[in-house]
Amino acid sequence: MFVPKKLIVTGGAGFIGSNFVHWVIQNVDDVEITVLDALTYAGNLENLKGLPEDRVKFVHGNICDKGLVEELFSRADSCVHFAAETHNDNSINDPEPFVETNVRGTYVLLQAARRFNLRFHHISTDEVYGDLALDDPNKFTENTPYNPSSPYSSTKAASDMLVRAWHRTYGIMSTISNCSNNYGPRQHIEKFIPRQITNILVGIKPKLYGDGLNVRDWIHVDDHSSAVWKILTKGRIGETYLVGANGERSNKEVLRIILSLMGKSEDDFEWVRDRPGHDRRYAIDSTKLRTELHWNPTKSKFEEGLKDTISWYVDNRSLWMGQKDCVEKKYSLSE
Ligand code: NAD
Ligand code: TYD
Repeated sequence: MFVPKKLIVTGGAGFIGSNFVHWVIQNVDDVEITVLDALTYAGNLENLKGLPEDRVKFVHGNICDKGLVEELFSRADSCVHFAAETHNDNSINDPEPFVETNVRGTYVLLQAARRFNLRFHHISTDEVYGDLALDDPNKFTENTPYNPSSPYSSTKAASDMLVRAWHRTYGIMSTISNCSNNYGPRQHIEKFIPRQITNILVGIKPKLYGDGLNVRDWIHVDDHSSAVWKILTKGRIGETYLVGANGERSNKEVLRIILSLMGKSEDDFEWVRDRPGHDRRYAIDSTKLRTELHWNPTKSKFEEGLKDTISWYVDNRSLWMGQKDCVEKKYSLSE
């Protein structure tokens, strides 16, 4: 078992990274965390509010900055790497930052992990496997061939390949996890679930792409955090683990639940133009993680999780209101 004492969390001011930091502070003693985050449009220091200053330090910086990364890695024993450009629609409009952060940034971190012999956990996505047909009886497993569709998923796939090669060639102590779609508090309002919740809150009709039948395999962000901690501390070096909670739902189903939980008619939404290259379905088989590391999700009640998520956006309007116009203006150019 590996026991992290000085952990670096890249992208810790974003959605999953910040929830992970909160989860670790609530569930684990004796670990100090340094968050390294460039505070792009997706990062927000407010996401780290309320954390103890003696256990969590924040460093404003870019993972592509080799000098800074080496300085931080020289004083740490482990790194969980969340930092990335993460939105498919943005990657279609402008792929460049995706190549820079997701590929070059991961390369810079791997070189530093190699130099300072850090335990390195790489956060990836199920989107590297491409998509499944709606009626395919199979789900993604650790053995599914890579087949990414978008600039986002292809740059994540490239970063996974770098991690695998750096393990095999240089022996770095790495693991990889590929998780399905996360939901929960602190997600940027460009993403599907918070976009629709905040649309309803400001009086805009929710927007459904294509025929609304695309399926995502939803997992609560806290379950993702507990899985990452399990893999970091107990995972076998060099291995990949898929993380999922059997949460397959079509986008239309999800939107109807949100509308109903928010007291609206389930048909009170608008159809908009489909995303180019839109992946049809993701589905995760997480047997390896469950049997080998005895991980189980504890927040599998989707309606309950959505209800809490809606409450979070209602209670934290000041965190997203300032971005709403800008996000919707950007979408209006392509929809
Ligand atoms: P996010 O977009 O909410 O946050 C990304 C964070 O990374 C932000 O705080 C941003 O400021 C920071 N960042 C971006 N570029 C950086 C750079 N060059 N240097 C330093 N910091 C930088 O993303 P998220 O949804 O929290 O996703 C986190 C990770 O989880 C990503 O690697 C993503 O691929 C993966 N993932 C996400 C999901 C999901 O459903 N959101 C599912 C599976 C995997
Ligand atoms: P998203 O949150 O962008 O995640 P990903 O593309 O990584 O799965 O989108 C989730 C699903 O919701 C995806 O099938 C696209 C769809 N979608 C909509 O129907 N309407 C929207 O306004 C958005 C942002 C996404």
